[in-house]
Amino acid sequence: MSGDLSPIDTAKFVAAKRAVEYVEDGMRVGLGTGSTAAWMVRCLAERMREEGLRIRGVPTSTRTAELARKLGIQVISLDEAKWLDLTIDGADEFDPNLNLIKGGGGALLQEKIVATASDQMIVITDASKRVEALGNFPLPVEVIPFGWQTTKALVEETLAGLDVLGDKAALRLNGDAPYVTDEGNHILDLHLHRIGNPRQTALVLNQIPGVVENGLFIDICDVVVIGYGDGRVEVTDINEGTREQSQIELAESTNLFSDLGD
Ligand code: 5RP
Repeated sequence: MSGDLSPIDTAKFVAAKRAVEYVEDGMRVGLGTGSTAAWMVRCLAERMREEGLRIRGVPTSTRTAELARKLGIQVISLDEAKWLDLTIDGADEFDPNLNLIKGGGGALLQEKIVATASDQMIVITDASKRVEALGNFPLPVEVIPFGWQTTKALVEETLAGLDVLGDKAALRLNGDAPYVTDEGNHILDLHLHRIGNPRQTALVLNQIPGVVENGLFIDICDVVVIGYGDGRVEVTDINEGTREQSQIELAESTNLFSDLGD
């Protein structure tokens, strides 16, 4: 079955497959958002079917909640879970310190809350997301709709004083209308090209009135699992200081792709 997948989907699939090995029976698991995270939800559902694994999932978006429910995963709210054993999510960029840019899929706010409320965060990705310095991917910043143009101007003004190479913010659109997050907010995508000091940038952006949260995840991610198109996976654990490689069998995974035709 996985022979039908493109190399990029294979990379996402094997990263997800390796990451769900961290999940143990009874865990409360944060379920990320995006195309890579969707593979993780499918792989978790497969382990539930095949091994009887029981977990409760806290989704980070309505999209992920829908997929999880459809595949038979028990969905609970973060307030019901209170704290999570593990969150597995994708990323738009990660650097050598495993700091991240997230929010390309528009779910950064719930993703950051859920990841921060977890004992461990695992990022699943393909190798294209690895960078020496964050910032080539536009940094998403969630802002409330009230006065968003003023907030945008304040953000651009603030960027001039930061160690970044760009100072332009663009309102994310959905067709002709502003993109609306699950929380009813908008997103500004900041074209920074290179973020010299991600920690400072994250802190300063969040001081601006109207900014709800930014997509810089600093000291939140513990493990990155990189998948490759040939089935190899590389696991980097920043706390243990380890890097391991292994190979995922690309043999039949029954029912794993049942939702893909939608
Ligand atoms: C959503 C995210 C995603 O994790 C990020 O955009 C990566 O998505 P994909 O796995 O589809 O490349 O942060 O808000």
